[in-house]
Amino acid sequence: MKKSICFLGAGNMGEALIKGCLSSMNKNEIGFIETNEQKTKYICDTYKINKLTSFQEINDYKTLIIAIKPQSVPSVITELSSTVSTDIIIVSIAAGITIGYYQKHFPSNKIIRVMPNTPCLINKGISVISLDENCSKYDESLVEKIFLSTGKVLFMPESKINAVTAISGSGPAYFYHLADTYAKEASSIGLDYDDALQLITNTMLGSAEMILQSNKKTDELIAQVRSPGGTTEEALKKLQINELSQIIKESITAANNRASELSLKE
Ligand SMILES: NC(=O)c1ccc[n+]([C@@H]2O[C@H](COP(=O)([O-])OP(=O)(O)OC[C@H]3O[C@@H](n4cnc5c(N)ncnc54)[C@H](OP(=O)(O)O)[C@@H]3O)[C@@H](O)[C@H]2O)c1
Repeated sequence: MKKSICFLGAGNMGEALIKGCLSSMNKNEIGFIETNEQKTKYICDTYKINKLTSFQEINDYKTLIIAIKPQSVPSVITELSSTVSTDIIIVSIAAGITIGYYQKHFPSNKIIRVMPNTPCLINKGISVISLDENCSKYDESLVEKIFLSTGKVLFMPESKINAVTAISGSGPAYFYHLADTYAKEASSIGLDYDDALQLITNTMLGSAEMILQSNKKTDELIAQVRSPGGTTEEALKKLQINELSQIIKESITAANNRASELSLKE
């Protein structure tokens, strides 16, 4: 009887997913292959899952999750595709590597492409899943279950994945940058960095929950905070004058363009 999931790569994202899977799966059901010795020891010591020493052993599993850097994929794809049996579902989280690329190398396997994000590490991630045309409802629910163990899940066609990468894949870094900028700039109005970081991050958290839970449009939520002639209005005016929306548009366009430049289609 085959075990459940094998990970190729157990770095930031691989570890997040391993951790998530362990919340609903026995450790004997999960295996990993990792080239970095330190990381391998850490994963074995921390999660006590199966360490694989050859690609051949991947065939003991039903699903392979490819979680190495996109630039590392071409160097292993030939050996991988000649070793892995056709009944294994290939799930890739590598940014930019298309379903078509994998279909060329694994013509008889089912292929699923996913774009998760690093908050998966604390079960607060969001992952977007694209399935190839051969996947069944069963495959859909199998992969959904894996990624639900690390946060929320949405299904979208692959044509949206580069845009998703630009919003939620890279997104955590935008908010870390924003939090850091607010905390640093708060010193000019008399607050310590650490105090300001607590204030802004808890405000981000609360505001995000308000958007998700209140059923109100963002305009209505802004109206709850902003009063005519008040402090919020002054701050928002400056954000508009300095064209925050233009800056955001340029930055997500750059990320989206970079995702398509990095795309490996065949
Ligand atoms: N980080 C994110 O925010 C994010 C978000 C969405 C999607 N992704 C995708 O997730 C994938 C992994 O990203 P990551 O941030 O987790 O990268 P990472 O931390 O560098 O993890 C990849 C791990 O795989 C190891 N590795 C490299 N080649 C290998 C091979 N042939 N066999 C087994 N292990 C190998 C690496 O070892 P070495 O360190 O020795 O190279 C590293 O420990 C990427 O494709 C990325 O596009 C990442």
